Amino acid sequence: LSSSATYTVPPVVLLLGPENAGKTALATLLERGTKPAPTHTSQVTQSVELNASTDSDLKQSFRNHDDATGTYTKFLLVDTPGHGKLRNVAMGRLGRSAEKLKAIVFMVDAAALGEQETLAPTATYLYDVLLHLQKRAGDKSKPRAAVSVLVAANKMDLFTALPAAMVKSHLENELTRIRASKSKGLLDSGVGMDDIGSEEQDAWLGEYGSDKFSFRQMPEFDIDVEVLGGSVMADDADVDKWWWWIAQRV
Ligand code: GTP
Ligand code: MG
Repeated sequence: LSSSATYTVPPVVLLLGPENAGKTALATLLERGTKPAPTHTSQVTQSVELNASTDSDLKQSFRNHDDATGTYTKFLLVDTPGHGKLRNVAMGRLGRSAEKLKAIVFMVDAAALGEQETLAPTATYLYDVLLHLQKRAGDKSKPRAAVSVLVAANKMDLFTALPAAMVKSHLENELTRIRASKSKGLLDSGVGMDDIGSEEQDAWLGEYGSDKFSFRQMPEFDIDVEVLGGSVMADDADVDKWWWWIAQRV
C-alpha cells in the first residue's frame, strides 16, 4: 500500500425523488449560488461539490460561498434521475456501501401531490427508500451511521402547492395504505403460516403492527425524517431551510 496517497472520502448527500420534482434545478442552483439552470429529464447521476458551514456569519444561506468568517465542510450532492424506468440507477446509488452517506434529500412536487396520480408513485418510491434504510439499520453485521431524510416539499411558489404539514400527512396516509396492501399481498402469497412472522416483519415499514404509519416511527431505526417546504424556481429562491438542514448533517 502506498503511504503517500492520503485520500479522504467526502460526505455524501443523496438527492432522490420522482421525476419533475426539481432535483436538478436545486443542484444547479446550489452549485451556481445564483439562479438554477434550465433542466431536462435526468438520465444519469451527477455529483456537485459543495461547501457548507455551520459557524459562518451567513451559515444559513446557500449564498454563503464568499463568506470567509467560518469553517466549511466539503460534501458531494448527488443528483439522481427520477424517472421510474431509471429507478435502479438511483436505488443503486443508495446501496453503495463505500460512500459516506450522511443524508438524503427526497424531493417532491408539492404542487402535484394533491393528485393521486402523483401521490401514489411518490409515496411508493419513498416507501422503498425508507424500507431500504430500515433494513440497512437492521443489518447488525455492518454497523452504519444514522441517516437523516429531508422530504423537501418543492414548488411552494405555485398556488396549488400543499403546505408542508399537508405534504407530510398525505405521504403518511399513502405510506400507511401501501404498507397495508404489501402486508396483505404477503398473506395472500401462500407463505407458510410459521414463516410469516419474520418475513412480514422484515418487509414492514415502521412500528410493526401499528395501524397508522408515521414518520415518528423511524427514529427507532436510526432514521429521522423531516418535511420542509421551499421553492427553487421562485423569483427569489427559497431553499435556505433545506441548505441549513444539510449543513448541520455533513
Ligand atoms: P428528473 O430529472 O426527471 O428526475 O426531474 P428533476 O427532479 O430533476 O426535475 P427538474 O429539476 O428537471 O425540474 C422539473 C421542472 O420543474 C422544471 O421545469 C423546473 O423548472 C420546474 N421546477 C423546479 N423547481 C421548481 C419550483 O420551485 N417552482 C416551480 N414553479 N417550478 C419548479
Ligand atoms: Mg433531474
